[in-house]
Amino acid sequence: MTDSKDATHKLWGGRFAGGPSPLLDAINRSIGTDFRLWPHDVRLSKAWATALAAAGVLSADERDALTSGLDRVGARIADGAVPIATDEDIHTMIDRLLHEEAGTVASKLHTGRSRNDQVATASRLWTMDACVRLDDAVRGLQSALLMQAESLTDAVLPAYTHLQRAQPVSGAHWMLSHFWPLDRDRTRLASAARGTAVLPLGSGAIAGSAFPVSREMLRELLGFAAISHNSIDATGDRDFVAETLFVCTMTAVHCSRIAEDLIIYGSSEFGFVKFGDGFSTGSSMMPQKRNPDVFELARGSGARVLGDLVSMLATIKGLPSGYSKDLQDDKRALFGAVDLLLLVLPAMAGAIAELRVDRARMRAAVSSAMMATDLADYLVKKGATFREAHGAVGSLVRQAEEAGIELNALPHERFTAAHALFGDDARDALGVDASLAARNIAGGTGPDAVAAQLREARTRV
Ligand code: ARG
Repeated sequence: MTDSKDATHKLWGGRFAGGPSPLLDAINRSIGTDFRLWPHDVRLSKAWATALAAAGVLSADERDALTSGLDRVGARIADGAVPIATDEDIHTMIDRLLHEEAGTVASKLHTGRSRNDQVATASRLWTMDACVRLDDAVRGLQSALLMQAESLTDAVLPAYTHLQRAQPVSGAHWMLSHFWPLDRDRTRLASAARGTAVLPLGSGAIAGSAFPVSREMLRELLGFAAISHNSIDATGDRDFVAETLFVCTMTAVHCSRIAEDLIIYGSSEFGFVKFGDGFSTGSSMMPQKRNPDVFELARGSGARVLGDLVSMLATIKGLPSGYSKDLQDDKRALFGAVDLLLLVLPAMAGAIAELRVDRARMRAAVSSAMMATDLADYLVKKGATFREAHGAVGSLVRQAEEAGIELNALPHERFTAAHALFGDDARDALGVDASLAARNIAGGTGPDAVAAQLREARTRV
């Protein structure tokens, strides 16, 4: 025990004559948040004992007593050991349990290390693992989108700009428009994971450990890619948290945009998609309701994750160099955002897999005015300038609108009156399938281009 003044197990306190106020304990205690770091703390502590022994600071017997003691501590926590009221944080709890398991040799483990390099290391290990889990979950959502896209190659719906009907696109093209942002998120996740894989352990509290432990050995034992270059930086650096939170935010924003499309397209006014029973909720009052709560919750989650990113950046921005206790809150933001995304991503994937698409409604929403650009392109191919063609087709659109009819229902004379280059085949340019077929440019909505896009997408999941 480090504290003889009372029965609580503390990692500090010798320099104080009086004990801490319960009010300090209440605000200082972080175990409610950081308990989940325990597997990483046990792992890095075993590596530290190994490195201390290799440096000649511990005997081989002491090392073995510590590492096997830490294994038993891990087993006890895995079996359900819970914190007691006086465990300030997970590092304190593990230290307490290690004293119970290994006896006084446990007091040697903290030689040359500080909770500052310890918590930074444990948090990085947790984050490296979280990046893998997030990548899996994002890929799961991509798979659901891809599966839907595969079945929608022959579906056509309006694409919207300004939420006004713009041009027809293939159903697969629309679905995949939500696939690629997630692909970029996965690239960003991999980059965040690389930035996280830098080992702080050995930095001590701020100036570096005074014992000649091999940080290279620690790096290898713990699976880091590199070791930090500066102990002041390493103990106060939470860039990896901010970066991971940014990726989480970007992903949450992408989920929110998918959700927004589906909520709108699922309304009776659009009726393009129907939500499956497994992912729809009812109303306590209105018996007819089928609500897309999953997508609304996903959209709302974006706000919370963004809040976590902002709170982390705001925490970091005013800090002096080195560790300050403000940094304890990094975990609340990080865990909150990751937990939330790990709920949102699979729920979205499930709800998207269950979506039923109403192809007839989609196609019916494509009015012939949406092919006005194709009609102008027709004139260009006959030799008109685009500006001139745009004007001629614009006048036809106005006439159809005034007559309250579809553009392709205007009599042929109107076409030839609007521009001399309109031939008998002018109205063919207003066909939906012709419009799509004209867009086989790479990245376009033409059937061949979409087939190539699908092939590329399949390689990503
Ligand atoms: N619970 C603390 C945290 O999460 C551990 C580090 C404490 N360091 C200190 N100097 N008091 O940040």
